[in-house]
Amino acid sequence: MLLLIFLSILGLIDSAYLTWEHFNNVLPPCTINRFLPILSDCGKVLQSPYSVMFGVPLAVIGLFHYGLLTLGILGALIYKKKVYRYWIIIQSIIGVVASFYFMYIQLVIIKSICIYCTLSALISFTLGLIVFLNLKKERLELAFSIFAFSYQNFIKWIFFLLYPEVIHNIMVFTGELIGKFPLSKFASGLIIYKDHTLHQKISDINFDSPVGLAAGFDYNANLTQTLYFLNFGFQSVGTITNLPYEGNPHPRLGRLIKSRSLMVNKGFKNKGAVIISQQLKKLHFKIPVGVSIGMTHSENIKTIQEAVKDVINTFNIFEKSGIKNSYYELNISCPNLVHAKNISFYPPNNLDFLLFSVDKLKLKKPVYIKMPIEKTNSEVISMLEIIVKHKSIKGVIFGNLLKNRKDPSLIPAEVKKFKVGNFSGKPTEKRSNELIKLAYKKYKSRLVIIGCGGIFSAEDAYKKIKLGASLVQLITGMIFQGPQLVSQINLELIDLLKKDGFNNISQVVGYENN
Ligand SMILES: Cc1cc2nc3c(=O)[nH]c(=O)nc-3n(C[C@H](O)[C@H](O)[C@H](O)COP(=O)(O)O)c2cc1C
Repeated sequence: MLLLIFLSILGLIDSAYLTWEHFNNVLPPCTINRFLPILSDCGKVLQSPYSVMFGVPLAVIGLFHYGLLTLGILGALIYKKKVYRYWIIIQSIIGVVASFYFMYIQLVIIKSICIYCTLSALISFTLGLIVFLNLKKERLELAFSIFAFSYQNFIKWIFFLLYPEVIHNIMVFTGELIGKFPLSKFASGLIIYKDHTLHQKISDINFDSPVGLAAGFDYNANLTQTLYFLNFGFQSVGTITNLPYEGNPHPRLGRLIKSRSLMVNKGFKNKGAVIISQQLKKLHFKIPVGVSIGMTHSENIKTIQEAVKDVINTFNIFEKSGIKNSYYELNISCPNLVHAKNISFYPPNNLDFLLFSVDKLKLKKPVYIKMPIEKTNSEVISMLEIIVKHKSIKGVIFGNLLKNRKDPSLIPAEVKKFKVGNFSGKPTEKRSNELIKLAYKKYKSRLVIIGCGGIFSAEDAYKKIKLGASLVQLITGMIFQGPQLVSQINLELIDLLKKDGFNNISQVVGYENN
């Protein structure tokens, strides 16, 4: 900050001097003139029509600019408030852009330079560089807020004109392309932000951020090389099944804009375990990947024994492929399996049988169970009692989609538009939070909880963590708020931790629920 103060005062003196000479019609001495008579001629520059903009001398504009910058820096030093740091960033960007323009005018149009103007440009460039390197968090906050504004007010409405599955496919295709031609270290350094306060090691896996992508968005695992750039701390792929499934009949996706929800009716559309495991085997992941496994969606599976065998097959396929930096999600709660309505892993005996078979695999990677949210508290407790008995299960994810079409958080006129499907987003939030609270109160750290459902902001994520979730996941929030959402959540979580006096996100887990 002291260097910034020094530079902005130097700029202030330089422009004050040029202002004085402008109003007194004095030409400043140009020492380089003797050595570079062709290139350097202060008089030519300072008396050119470009030295005045909209009737105001540039020197006065410079004075005003450095004055504002000095005030911003002093404000940041004295009050330590973020708003002053934003002020410095905006003012220094203006300085850099204007300096580029004025240097262009001097070098290309007037073909002569004025050393006082060049000194001012050098000051602006140096200031810009210092601000760029030192105020990364504030710089990103500003950039993401501008992007969020454009997304939420313009881009989203263009996307929403298209059928949801079409825009989803376009986004996945684009994302995959970006992942194939990774951004250079410099470019990725511009948008990736890591902070030790958000880092956790859970079941031997490192999570740089507690915010991940929930299962269902990247169902064919195309984005494992891309989501790192959006500051995700981890991501789920799938749900993947033993045999491929082309998806339920259309409509498979819909938007409930006022309910801030999506209608989902995919029914485990995916390419199948063999293809996806082969594809993932060759890759290296910068963030942990959760392989979400579910039962093949087929009417040929008629008994619970067949269903368990099918799921175990998928685990075996992924185990053999030896995917690194990964964990498993066992999805027992998809409400869209129209061809397998009679098979359920909810009854305690069935769940116990499934988890006993998973235990027998002696998996080294942790398994998390993706739970339903439409079950009663006592039904969920019965399930948890079985889950905690099984060694391979490290935790639970609360939870999956909302089935109840009459839920008060869904706007009836929006629900009516869809005869099929279940609902994500805000309508899932309340029950997801209740179940996180319930499970944490009973099992504390014996179960790792991943909170999922209706996260649209940092406060939503923080709430779930305070109730007992160690990690959180989202999909719908990103579609409604924009792809910058996870970055914004991370940056705001850092502030929330600081404000509440915590040094690490793990200290917040269950803080409101002890
Ligand atoms: C388009 C879409 C597809 C989904 N597919 C799956 C899936 O295959 N497996 C799964 O466990 N959950 C699936 N879900 C549920 C999400 O993982 C998540 O539990 C739910 O959407 C609540 O989170 P959200 O409000 O942040 O979207 C899907 C959700 C959406 C929106």
